[in-house]
Amino acid sequence: MRVLAVLIALAVSSWSVAAEPVLTVDQKTYSAGELLSRPDAVSITVADDASYRRSMTYKAVPLLALLPASQGSRYDTLEAKASDGFVAQIPLSLVTRGSSGGAVAYLAVEDPAHPWSALPNEKKSAGPFYVVWDHPQRSDVRQEQWPFNLASLTFVESPLHRWPQLASRSTDPLAQSGQKVFVAFCLPCHQLKGAGLGKMGPDLGQPLPVMQYITEPGLRAIVRNPAGVRTWPEQHMSGFGPQALPDAELDALVAYLKGMAK
Ligand code: HEC
Repeated sequence: MRVLAVLIALAVSSWSVAAEPVLTVDQKTYSAGELLSRPDAVSITVADDASYRRSMTYKAVPLLALLPASQGSRYDTLEAKASDGFVAQIPLSLVTRGSSGGAVAYLAVEDPAHPWSALPNEKKSAGPFYVVWDHPQRSDVRQEQWPFNLASLTFVESPLHRWPQLASRSTDPLAQSGQKVFVAFCLPCHQLKGAGLGKMGPDLGQPLPVMQYITEPGLRAIVRNPAGVRTWPEQHMSGFGPQALPDAELDALVAYLKGMAK
């Protein structure tokens, strides 16, 4: 009987440890409770939240306060990994510019006692951890630079340095600017010839490059609104309207992917 009680106690304690959400920032681990009780935790209202697409109020910690300063000199990119296979490569300069008039990044922390509502078209919220931006337009912060369901933040080298196969195969300046669009908007979910860590969608470069089996109008339609091309229950790519991804950037992206298919 006593053995059974001990076993139950052990099971319950390990369950409660596993249930507490934690975020890893450059090898250091934080629990939601620990972050929420920090003296620098503030309440912020984000007028036009990129994921909820409405005004949201969060308890949040300034992201810069969580990043060890010394790392900045060696690495120029912050790798944000979500629990669902989404991995964004965020330029560190985008975060540091917040201290000199740019958009300010915050780590929003979901209080388990007051959970956030579910994301549009999803069953779950953006929690337990979510990078949000105050005045995103000041630094032109893009939609995929608001990683939600965040599990870790790690300092890394820039994507082109880590994965030279991302370099544009075309000398056309339009294709070359499309490479940056691909890294910001597509690489978080799609690898390209093995480059990147995103695992939500298929590799768009191999075995067959995407522009060898999808037409240009078809690709444009998928990027704008995948559900307008084909539908099924597990549809995880939500698409990008002209406000998130202007036509000129879509043109550049198409030129880049065409060049990569040669
Ligand atoms: C949030 C993750 C996510 C982002 C960001 C994303 N995709 Fe996708 N994409 C997917 C997933 C998942 C699929 C598989 C189909 C589905 O679930 O919609 C997919 C499918 C596709 C397909 C169809 C591939 C095939 O072989 O059927 C294309 C083409 C595509 N994406 C291109 C892009 C491009 C270009 C970008 C950047 C502008 C992009 N995606 C951004 C998740 C994403």
